[in-house]
Amino acid sequence: MKITIIGTGRLGSTLGKIWAEKGHMIMFGSQDPQKAIKLANSIGFNATGGTYEQASKFSEIIILAVPWSGVKEIIKKAGDLEGKIIVDSTTTAAPSLGGLSTEPTPSAAENVAKWAVGAKVIKAVHTIGVESLNKTHFGTQEASLFICGDDLDAKSKLKQLGQDLSFEVIDAGPLTNARLIEPLAILWIELAYNQGMGTDIAFTLLRRRMAK
Ligand SMILES: NC(=O)c1ccc[n+]([C@@H]2O[C@H](COP(=O)([O-])OP(=O)(O)OC[C@H]3O[C@@H](n4cnc5c(N)ncnc54)[C@H](OP(=O)(O)O)[C@@H]3O)[C@@H](O)[C@H]2O)c1
Repeated sequence: MKITIIGTGRLGSTLGKIWAEKGHMIMFGSQDPQKAIKLANSIGFNATGGTYEQASKFSEIIILAVPWSGVKEIIKKAGDLEGKIIVDSTTTAAPSLGGLSTEPTPSAAENVAKWAVGAKVIKAVHTIGVESLNKTHFGTQEASLFICGDDLDAKSKLKQLGQDLSFEVIDAGPLTNARLIEPLAILWIELAYNQGMGTDIAFTLLRRRMAK
């Protein structure tokens, strides 16, 4: 698959490296295109870099790996997003890492859908730490990747990408359910940083029967 990753920080660079190694073609978009090109060169294969607009044109799937505070402006600069699959991976934690910086209703992902007119928005990759990407087995248990969104085809593409990161992908339903799964990221941050558990933690959904 061709994948656009907006943001060259910890999450964007880690996702890009893993997916490039799995054979996907990556384009990074950055506020500084030279930074995106440098990151792509460091990956060395299957990767390129450019502006937000160039990167957004590159593929159908666009991962937002940027701080929540920058998202609205980035969407404006990205150009025409009609028909694109936008994956909102932002965590809406307050800068103090305690509590939410938005009210849960509507969720961050629903705001993204309002700003990115005509795009199919999915909430995903926000409930895990970058340290656990591609390292998703904790003993005999596998970490879960919770996703939600309204477009089934978009979710099935994201499911494939989540499996490439070695997660069990859990479809949590429509985009409005981002109101339920966004706060999980705040719990993760609270446990990791404020309750001293560290970042080597992840959520998993336990089920007696594999219904789906
Ligand atoms: N780190 C994790 O474990 C993790 C896990 C799940 C979700 N997330 C979420 O993923 C997003 C990115 O996290 P991260 O850890 O990758 O952060 P980071 O290392 O600080 O990188 C964020 C990147 O976003 C870009 N950016 C664009 N607009 C920005 C702005 N106004 N201010 C600052 N940076 C801006 C920058 O890349 P350019 O300079 O190239 O534009 C920057 O490198 C956040 O919303 C975070 O909550 C992170």
